[in-house]
Amino acid sequence: MYVIFMGAQGSGKGTQAERIGPKLKLVKVATGDLFRSAIAQQSELGLKVQSIIESGNLVPDELTNAIVQVRLAQIAANRLKDDDVDGALFDGFPRTEAQARALDDILASQDTKLDAVIEIDVPREKLIARLAGRRTCEACGAVYHVESDPPKVEGICDKCGGKLIQREDDKPDSIARRLALYDNQTRPLLDYYRAKGILITINGDQDIDTVTADILNALGQA
Ligand code: AP5
Ligand code: MG
Repeated sequence: MYVIFMGAQGSGKGTQAERIGPKLKLVKVATGDLFRSAIAQQSELGLKVQSIIESGNLVPDELTNAIVQVRLAQIAANRLKDDDVDGALFDGFPRTEAQARALDDILASQDTKLDAVIEIDVPREKLIARLAGRRTCEACGAVYHVESDPPKVEGICDKCGGKLIQREDDKPDSIARRLALYDNQTRPLLDYYRAKGILITINGDQDIDTVTADILNALGQA
C-alpha cells in the first residue's frame, strides 16, 4: 500500500505517520525528517538545504525528488526480501505538481501506484498554536506538544531519552511563509488527487487517537 498524508503545517501528518506507519507496516517517507537529519550530520545535502529549511522555503524539486527516488528504491528492495514492509507512507511529499508527477512516474516504474491520499484538515487558527507548542526529539525526530501530547518527563523524549527542542522553522516568520507556500503550491494538489478519485478528507481537529482511528477506518484497516 502506498499512501500520502497531506495537510498544512501542524495538521498532524508526522504525528499520525508515527502511529499508523508501524501498524500497517508502511515505511515513513518524510522529506522534512530526511532533510533535518542531513542538516544534523552536516552532509553535503544538509549544507545545501539548511538555510532554505530554517527560513521556511521549499527545497528545489530536483533535490527533493532525488532523495525520494533513492528511498523508494530501498523500500522496493526490502519489500522483496522482508515480509515486514508492505509499502510506504509519504509525509510532507509531494508538495508541488512537479513532485506529484515525479512520484507517479517513480511508482509506475516499480509497477505500483498510490492507493490513497489522506488530507488531514485543521482550521487555520489552530495550526499556529500547534506549531508554537510543538517539541521535537533532536535524536529520533519524535513529535510532542507541550499541552496536547506532552512527554512523560519535560524536555526528554519518551522513546529514546533524547533532548526535545523547538524547530528553527517554528518561529513566527517562518510559520507564516510555510502556510502561504502550502496555500499556493500544495493545496492545489488536492484537486489533482480528487480527480484521480483517491482523495479522502479527515477531520484533524479532534484528539490524536480519534484522528488515528478515523484514518485507519478510511483506509479500511480499523
Ligand atoms: P516538514 O518537516 O514536512 O514540515 P511541515 O510540512 O512544515 O509540516 P509539519 O511537520 O510542521 O506539520 P505536521 O503536519 O507533521 O504536524 P505534527 O504532526 O508535527 O518540512 C520542513 C521543511 O522541509 C519544509 O518547510 C521545506 O523547507 C522542507 N521540505 C520538506 N518536504 C519538502 C518537499 N516535499 N519539497 C520541498 N521542500 C520540502 O503536529 C504539529 C503539532 O501539533 C505537534 O506538536 C503535535 O503534537 C500536535 N498535534 C498533532 N495532532 C494533534 C491533534 N489531533 N490535536 C492536538 N495537537 C496535535
Ligand atoms: Mg511533520
